[in-house]
Parts: sequence; structure tokens; C-alpha cells
Amino acid sequence: MNVKESLLNTLAASGGEYISGAALADSLGVSRNAVWKAVKALQSDGYTIESVTSKGYRLAENNNRLSEKLITSHLTTKSLGRQLKVFDEINSTNTAAKEMASAGAPHGTAVVADTQTTGRGRLGRTFSSPAGTGIYLSVILRPELELEATSMMTTAASVAVAEAVEKFTGTDVQIKWVNDIYLGGKKICGILTEASLGLEMKSLDYAVIGIGVNVRSVREKFDSELIKTATSIEDETGLIIDRNALCAEILNRLEAYTEDLRDRSFLEDYRRRELLTGNEITTVINGQPMTGKALGIDDNGNLIIEFPDGTVKHLGSGEANLCRIKK
Ligand code: BTN
Repeated sequence: MNVKESLLNTLAASGGEYISGAALADSLGVSRNAVWKAVKALQSDGYTIESVTSKGYRLAENNNRLSEKLITSHLTTKSLGRQLKVFDEINSTNTAAKEMASAGAPHGTAVVADTQTTGRGRLGRTFSSPAGTGIYLSVILRPELELEATSMMTTAASVAVAEAVEKFTGTDVQIKWVNDIYLGGKKICGILTEASLGLEMKSLDYAVIGIGVNVRSVREKFDSELIKTATSIEDETGLIIDRNALCAEILNRLEAYTEDLRDRSFLEDYRRRELLTGNEITTVINGQPMTGKALGIDDNGNLIIEFPDGTVKHLGSGEANLCRIKK
């Protein structure tokens, strides 16, 4: 590890406390001048490092640079994120993660990017991913599961993100079936799960869970159409959240919920936050617009809808297009 990397580790571990130049020089076994040079190098890499003459250096609370080291410093996982690659720019973290999975990357490998040039959403849509704003995270999971269980991964991921955001903001968020996270009535996060089948086509080779969270303000970054339906944590709460810490917390919770997907106790936490439940909704099933009442979420994460003729359908994520609350 070079001086710059060691310095970043030490600053990340200090919990926001200042460390004097002399103490840093001592612990890294280098001169104070070498510490100063490493600080400058980190600053030119985009890290916000504060320096106060009588106190020393610290990583600023509002540091907005994503990095492997800073994410790792907040991880408590066994596997998720332990193999981690952070890119300044990438086409899509899901595409990269799928390529890595096909090449044999292990369970838990995660890819994070500061910006995506072709971020992908569900149903072939694009996912706007401006720089310095969001967390664009994809995780490779290789559970021993039947294919049907992949939808539970998305359900688990929704709860993981919801809880992580609530922990950092102290504000309740909602989940809109299947996998959108809402804050203040607008979307702050979308999740795209992509699966690859094993040879006998019934089991899962791997799944990639792609999570995009709008953290910093998107007001100047999203176009006038998107801003009507999407927002960010900062725009809704005024809070500047550390993207590294939030990313790690999502991984921490995602590991807890996906370790054994037979344990579906997280469904209660999903149901409690679900937005469609109890509402008249419209959806498109097999190309047909349908209206019915959303009764809730079943034990497989499907949406239960009652239609006006009394029939009840359990709708899987693959069967429904947009689900909207009828106004
Ligand atoms: C949706 O809202 O339709 C799903 C959006 C999923 C976006 C994430 S961002 C990280 C990962 N990479 C992608 O290209 N898509 C997912």
C-alpha cells in the first residue's frame, strides 16, 4: 500500500476526528512532508479533506468521492462487497457485473460507479445516472435457488434499501411494488434484477441485483419530465448523506436478507411500506389495461389484485407493466 492509500485508510477509520500531521507521519512511518503531499494527491483525486492548523487533517463529512476504501470501511458483511470495484464512469454497473459473473466472479462481488452512461431500468427504460449524485451499485449473488426465488431477491433488496435510507435520514420511505423506493411521493431508487440460468434451466447460475439511489440533489441534473416523478434524498430532506456509508449499509442489510431466502420475515417490513396496497390501481397485463383493488403482497412477493368481477389475481413482477394508483 502506498502512502496515499494508507493515509486514506487512516482518515476513513478516524470517524471524523482530526489527526495531526505529526501523528499521521508517525503512524504511516513517513515524513510530515510526505503526509502533506499525500493529502494534496487525495484532494486532487476528488476527496474532500479538511485541514486546520492546530488540529491536523480529517475526511470532511460532506466528502462526495466514492471509493473502495471508504465503502469497505463501513462494511460488516462476510461476502457482499468484499470484492469491490468502483468506477468513475461506466456504461452500466449491471452490464459490468454480468460480464464479471460470466467470467467467474464470486458471490458477493459488487460494482459501483459515480456515473453511468447507459444506466438501465426495468422494461427497457434508461436510468438517469448523473455524476456526483447517486449510488449505482450492482451485486452478484450466486445462491443455491430455484429460478422462482429471484423475485424474492428484489423484494429483499427493496427492504434493504428502504431500511438503509431510513437509518441515515430518520424519515420513513415507501416501497411501490415491485421495487421502487419513494420519498415524499416521488421515486428515489429503482432496482433491476437480472438472472442467468444454470445449464438445466431450472436453477440459477447467478443473479445481478442493480440498485440506483438518488442521494445528492438532482434538481439541476434531471430533465423537466423526470423531475416530475423522481427526486433525491437531499432534495426531500435537505440532508447531505455520505454515499460511501449508505452504499455499505445497503450491502450490509442486503447480505442479512439474502443469506437464506427461505426466511421471508422481511416481507412484513416490505408490506408495511408498500404504497399500492388498499388502493384502486390500473395496470397493463398482457397488453390489456386492467383496473382493480390492490389487496396486498403474498408470501412470494406477488401483488394480490381483486378485479370488479370478484376474481382475485396474484400478479408476478414479470406479468405487469406499470402499476399506477387510480386518481
Ligand atoms: C428501474 O427503476 O426501472 C430500475 C433501475 C435500476 C438502476 C440500477 S443503477 C445500477 C444498476 N445498473 C444499471 O444499469 N441499472 C441498475
